[in-house]
Amino acid sequence: MSATRLIHPLSEFNAEIPLEEDGLFERIACGIESQGYVILPAALPHPVADSLVRYLSLLEEERFHQARIGRGLEQDRNPFIRRDKIYWMDDAHPGASQWFDWTTRLKLYLNRRLFLGLFSFESHFALYHPGDFYKKHLDAFRGESNRVLTLVTYLNMGWEPGQGGELVVYAPDDGDEISKVVPAFGTMVIFLSEEFPHEVLAADRDRYSVAGWFRINGSINRQIDPPR
Ligand code: OGA
Ligand code: MN
Repeated sequence: MSATRLIHPLSEFNAEIPLEEDGLFERIACGIESQGYVILPAALPHPVADSLVRYLSLLEEERFHQARIGRGLEQDRNPFIRRDKIYWMDDAHPGASQWFDWTTRLKLYLNRRLFLGLFSFESHFALYHPGDFYKKHLDAFRGESNRVLTLVTYLNMGWEPGQGGELVVYAPDDGDEISKVVPAFGTMVIFLSEEFPHEVLAADRDRYSVAGWFRINGSINRQIDPPR
C-alpha cells in the first residue's frame, strides 16, 4: 500500500514546467490542431526574449550574410525575392541556450500532444533594413523538405503600426489574406511550413526577427539529417 498522497499526481507530473508555459504551449497546440497556424501577440516569455536580444547584441552586423533561397546546392541569392540578412544561430553558444531550451520543451510538448514526430530545430536571426522585403513564399515544398513547423518571433521594441514590416499570412487554398502581423516585440507566429504562404512587407526602420523550423528526421543516403 502506498502512503496517502498530499500532492495530486498531475501537479507532480508538471512540477518542472511553470503553469504559464504549459498554458502557452497548449494554446499553440490548439491553434495548430484546429487551423494549422496560430498568432500570439506578446507571447514569447520575457527571459527568453531578453536572452535573444542579448545574443543579438553580441553579433556584429558583418556576421550576417545575404539570405539565399532554396536548399543545399541549389541555394541562390535573389534580391527580387528576398533582401534580408541572416545569421544562423549556434545551438552551442551560451547566449542561445534559453532559446534552444525553450524550443526543445515546445517541441516535446507538441510531439506529445499532436504526435508530430518533430526531431530537430534550426533558427536564424534576420535583419531587414528599411525597404527590405521577402516576397510571398512557402517555407517548405511537399516531399522536398523536412520542415514541418515554422516559428517566427520579433525583437522590435516600440513598433508603430504605420512603420510597415508586417508579416502577411495567406490561406493555404484560396490564397486569401488571413492576417497582417505587426512585428512587435514578443509576438509569435507558428504555422505548418508546407501549407501557409507568407510574405514580409518593407518597413521604414530596421526590423529584427527570429525564424525557426521544427523538422522531422530527414536522414537519407546514410547522411544523417542533412543540413538546411
Ligand atoms: C522566413 C520568413 C518571416 C519574418 O525567414 O522564411 O518568412 O517575419 N520570415 O521574418
Ligand atoms: Mn518564410
